[in-house]
This record gives sequence, structure tokens and C-alpha cells, in this order.
Amino acid sequence: MMKALEGVKVLDFTHVQSGPTCTQILGWFGADVIKVERPGVGDATRKQLIDKPGADSLYFTMLNHNKRSIELNSKNETGKEVLTRLIKECDVLVENFAPGALDRMGFSWERVHEINPRIIMASIKGFGPGKYEDCKVYENVAQCAGGSASTTGFLDGPPLVTGAQIGDSGTGLHLCLGIVTALFHREKSGVGQRVSVAMQDSVLNLARVKMRDQQRLDAGPLKEYSQFGEGIPFGEATPRAGNDSGGGQPGRILKCKGWETDPNAYTYFIIQAAVWEKVCDLIGEPNWKTDDGFASPPERLDKLNQIFERIEAWTMTKTKFEVMDLCNPLDIPVGPILSMKEIAEDEGLYDTGTLVKVDHPERGEYISVGCPIKLSASPVDVTRSPLLGEHTLEILKDVLHYDDSEINNIVSSGAVGEVNKS
Ligand code: COA
Repeated sequence: MMKALEGVKVLDFTHVQSGPTCTQILGWFGADVIKVERPGVGDATRKQLIDKPGADSLYFTMLNHNKRSIELNSKNETGKEVLTRLIKECDVLVENFAPGALDRMGFSWERVHEINPRIIMASIKGFGPGKYEDCKVYENVAQCAGGSASTTGFLDGPPLVTGAQIGDSGTGLHLCLGIVTALFHREKSGVGQRVSVAMQDSVLNLARVKMRDQQRLDAGPLKEYSQFGEGIPFGEATPRAGNDSGGGQPGRILKCKGWETDPNAYTYFIIQAAVWEKVCDLIGEPNWKTDDGFASPPERLDKLNQIFERIEAWTMTKTKFEVMDLCNPLDIPVGPILSMKEIAEDEGLYDTGTLVKVDHPERGEYISVGCPIKLSASPVDVTRSPLLGEHTLEILKDVLHYDDSEINNIVSSGAVGEVNKS
């Protein structure tokens, strides 16, 4: 079956997490992703958070599937010539260097566009144009600057970052969408364009509902927040809301059987208005269906703590999976708090390709998260991440069409490091 992005060549100049997430998706969809790495060094993550000495880290392998690797020194004169040829050859250039790094190499957008007017050049930076545009940024900086941290955590605690990598992987997803949109545009217009995504902007986009609440504060307290029921006044900014639901249907994380010893024996429980009566019957409070102060959603808003305490008294008598089994048939939305261990052991996720087992020559078999986006006519085969420079010779020959003597000259210039000609 033909892959959706078959024939698209991607010059992958990304490193760490945000950019590699993006190019990995392009690779999963069938693009030929050529990862350019500094000779002898490579993407810094290859050697970060090492669990098996001598092998590429899981940090690297899990972000760089379906790619080829070429070692290339882009600051060496011959290396720049090879890079220029790659730019001519490729449809997309993706990079997430620190601000100005690509310009310092001599490959500004203007220069790249001049070399290949059809190319799409996609960049991730920490901040958009403005006072912070020159800053280097990592995940948690973006979570803080994008408004997520100030709205995460409990009211009486400090701001919190989340485990989901919304700054890095979230930005990679935004960039990926920008790239395929620009490719679609190029199909009709014939011209390339620049795609830029700032990590601060991506996090803010994902925290959009918190900006909604910021403006709703002008009209009075946010009644669906626990603090309203607790009589705690609101300040000027959207507060931290603990585990309160971010939407119009109140919800909380509640203890389940075994919570005393199992840190994940909890369930999320949503009292969607449409199933309120079923919730009342299930927890043994049938009178709440009609009682004054409980019958309608607005009446319940100042009693949410009391209501969830009562539901929790019920969930504590059940395991999180029993809660799910009892609530699902009644259309009551609940979700067990699943640990990474439980997820890694879920066979159903392997059946759908959401989890995959990948074999690697240095590390043996490991679990990775596969492609979460399923295309019916372009199924994804996850292939292992490349070793550093594994495809240098192949790319020089088959993609850039250098002959043997040219390759010898490139190698002796020090532009590409060692090449395996065996
Ligand atoms: N050949 C030669 N030099 C290379 C090279 C290659 N193949 N690849 C990279 N380099 C050079 C760069 O040109 C740069 O040199 P310079 O500073 O002399 O111009 C140098 O390596 C380091 O690049 P830089 O991007 O500054 O890496 P860093 O490790 O110092 O910073 C980040 C890392 C992530 C903080 C930074 O890249 C950044 O802010 N990126 C944008 C935001 C982002 O994506 N952050 C999230 C990452 S998950």
C-alpha cells in the first residue's frame, strides 16, 4: 500500500525532543526522513538518560524511528556544499536549533529559499518574535511561559508542570500540521514557504480553556471550580483547579479500593448532567434526583465537594476497573488512573499499533509508543531509529548522486566522519 507521504524527502535538522517528534510522524506517514547529525556527536539525546551503556538511549530511539542518519559537519566548507545539495533535493527542511544558529551556519530562510524555492522550511523556537525571541527554551520553560503551569496544581500549592510533554511533543505536532498544510498548498501554488511554531504559542493553544476562564472571571466567580463551593474568593487570574474538570461537566479524581497502598488506585469521575439520575441510583442517593439543591446542574455547583465525597465513599468500595465496568453501561464517563506499567502491559494497545515492540542492534527489544494517528490507506510500520551516520554513504550515493571519487573527497575533507563502505 502506498504511504501518504511517499516521495516526500525531509531534511531533518532537528534534535532533542520537539523537532524529532515532528519528523518522526512524517517518517511514519512514509516520508524519507534524512537526519543530519554532527559527526561523532549526533543528537545529544543519543547519550542522555542512558540505561544500557554503549547503546543509544531510549530517549533517542523512541523519538527517531523511521529515519536515516547522515553525519555531516555543516560548518565545514565541503559539508556546506553537501548540505546545499540536500536542500536542493529535499521538499522539507525541519529544524529546532537555538535562535540564530542556522543563520550563523549560512543557511537563513532567504538562502534556503534561494537554493530551493519549492522547499518548505519549518522551525521551532521557544518564543515568537518579541522580547524573548533569542532565548533557548526547553519543555518546562514552555509549560510555564505558555500559561499551563500557573493553572496546574492545587490552589494551596505551587504551580506544577505536567508529565505530558505539551511543550516539546505538543509543539512538534503543531509543526507537523503546518508542514503538511504547506505541502498541500505547494501542490496548488508550486511555491514553498516558511512554517514557524513557537513553543509558548503551542502550549497556550493547548491551554486555551484557561484563557477562556480568565475572561469569564470578569463576570464573577468560576462556579464549576471547587474553590467556589469552598467559599474561597477568586483572585485576578485563572487559578489552579486541582483535578476539577476543565469543561462544563464537573469531575474529580476519586479514591478507589486499594488506594492506601497503590498510588494509582484512583478513577476520574464525571457527573455529566444527562446521567445524573443514574449516578444517584448507583451511589445510593436516589433522593438527590429530586431534592431541592441537587436536582439541576446549577443548584449542584456549590455542593460539588459534598457530592464527590459521597461518590468517593462508593468508589472506595470498588477497584478502578470495577468502577469502569459498572459505570460504562450506564454511560457515566469515568476513567481509571492507569500507570505506565499497566499501559505497557495492555495487549489491546499492541494490537492497534499504539504500542510497539522494536528490535535494536545495540539494545535488543524495547517498547515504544507507535503512531497515534491511524490512516486506513497508509498504515504505519515502525522501524528502528538509525545508528549515528548509519546511512551516510547511502545518502551521498543514492540521494545526492555523488560518484566514488567525489565521496572520497568529501570523506577526506572531514565533512562527514567515517563512512562504512563494506
Ligand atoms: N554540524 C556542525 N554544527 C552543528 C551541527 C552540525 N551537523 N548541528 C548543530 N550544530 C551546532 C549549531 O550550529 C550550534 O552552533 P552555534 O551555537 O555555534 O551557532 C550548536 O551546534 C548548538 O546548537 P543549539 O541549537 O544552540 O544547541 P544547544 O544544545 O545549545 O541548545 C536547545 C538546545 C534545545 C535549548 C536549543 O536548540 C533551542 O532553544 N531550540 C529551539 C527550541 C526547542 O526546540 N527547544 C526544545 C528542545 S526539545
